[in-house]
Amino acid sequence: MSRVAYVNGRYVPHRRATVHVEDRGYQFADGVYEVCEVRGGRLVDERRHMERLQRSLAELRIAAPMPLKALGMVLRETVRRNRVRDGIVYLQITRGVAPRDHAFPPAGTRPSVVVTARSLDRERLEKAAAEGIAVITVPENRWPRVDIKSIALLPNVLAKQAAREQGAKEAWFVAPDGTVTEGSSSNAWIVTASGKVVTRPADHAILRGITRTVLLDVLAANGLELEERPFTVAEAYAAREAFITSASQIVMPVVSIDGRPVANGAPGMIATVLRRDFHRFAEIG
Ligand code: PDD
Repeated sequence: MSRVAYVNGRYVPHRRATVHVEDRGYQFADGVYEVCEVRGGRLVDERRHMERLQRSLAELRIAAPMPLKALGMVLRETVRRNRVRDGIVYLQITRGVAPRDHAFPPAGTRPSVVVTARSLDRERLEKAAAEGIAVITVPENRWPRVDIKSIALLPNVLAKQAAREQGAKEAWFVAPDGTVTEGSSSNAWIVTASGKVVTRPADHAILRGITRTVLLDVLAANGLELEERPFTVAEAYAAREAFITSASQIVMPVVSIDGRPVANGAPGMIATVLRRDFHRFAEIG
């Protein structure tokens, strides 16, 4: 089936979906994005993703290209036209097209909007979750406002590639004080020996993941104790369990960190339960 992308008001064949060479996203990474899970053809947690998008746009002073309701319709139409049942929808908004100049373009420059959707192999993801993934740690080298979901992802790209080259699926950034901030495209969690679930508070040093937010409800409903605080790499090495969260991975158990097995090297029970229960707590449109 041929894929379709939404580009600035039009649905076009994916292979011919292009933006202008002077798009500020292309030249300056001057834009924001969202990735939303699609499940059974429906958007998962659209409202929360839209709220975060609005916040990212406001922080960077990029004008909303259209009302959020209309944007939601574009997301759903892109999912429909691509016949995605299980997968993701990607939305990117940049500050638009203008002659290259670092400062903001003239007032009235229209933001660029791109939406794509693609299917993910759910069976493969379930198999990965049953086996668990390996992560490595890398020094934190991103700017101090990673709470904004900006498309400027070069450190994340290099971190993920380093993981790949070491046979791992994710890289955890480690701040100078030895604490883990988050993954290159996910939030990071551990379970302590006493069964407490630990994740970093959502300040400016991490992206406030939507999956993370929903998981707080899942934890509470399961009577699990949460500690929102930074944890060190040493704590992670000694953890009973570790896992990551993101819209595409949901809850993915981590079974090794820097080549050391987490506990007995198998996916943990808490991560497995959280993954199983997640969609009962998400808003499915
Ligand atoms: N990544 N932290 C970072 C740096 C991320 O890029 C992501 C999401 C998350 C988790 O956020 P959420 O639960 O809202 O997906 C945390 C997306 C999926 C991506 O870039 O593909």
